[in-house]
Amino acid sequence: MKKEKSTSGQATTARLLVIHGPNLNLLGTREPEQYGHTTLSDINLALSRRAETAGVELETFQSNHEGALIERVHAAREQGVRAIIINPAGYTHTSVALRDALAAVAIPFVEVHLSNVYAREPFRHHSYFSALAMGVISGLGSEGYLLALEYLLNKLNTD
Ligand code: DQA
Repeated sequence: MKKEKSTSGQATTARLLVIHGPNLNLLGTREPEQYGHTTLSDINLALSRRAETAGVELETFQSNHEGALIERVHAAREQGVRAIIINPAGYTHTSVALRDALAAVAIPFVEVHLSNVYAREPFRHHSYFSALAMGVISGLGSEGYLLALEYLLNKLNTD
């Protein structure tokens, strides 16, 4: 990921986006044996703190609506978002449209799942996103988001 320069030649602050799909607003109380006790606010706070330390702008977005998620991805291109961390949740296994939105904006992204989807029901073994993703983290709980962020921060520094 190349560093961008403003018209004055100064390097601009990199912008990252974290997208959470449907039902992830219920984290903390939703099937804790599957998804743990950490809430979405806890996850977002930890990500924001890490991004702040690294001097990177990070925005988080959650929606239970496919169209809203697609429109957020479109807006990311206008905003010059450099990379996305996305947990498409249930849409992982169903949404060609959200996958196509990510392909259309061509913003590199990391796919994250709290649970190990490959150790669960067969319908969770297929993702419409994985073939387009930079990589996939599945089964490491809420830490997976922070590991994805760490990876992107390293990328921003080295590319
Ligand atoms: C999930 C796994 C999906 O199969 C499921 O529909 C979710 C959450 C995860 O983070 O483990 O909602 O993406």
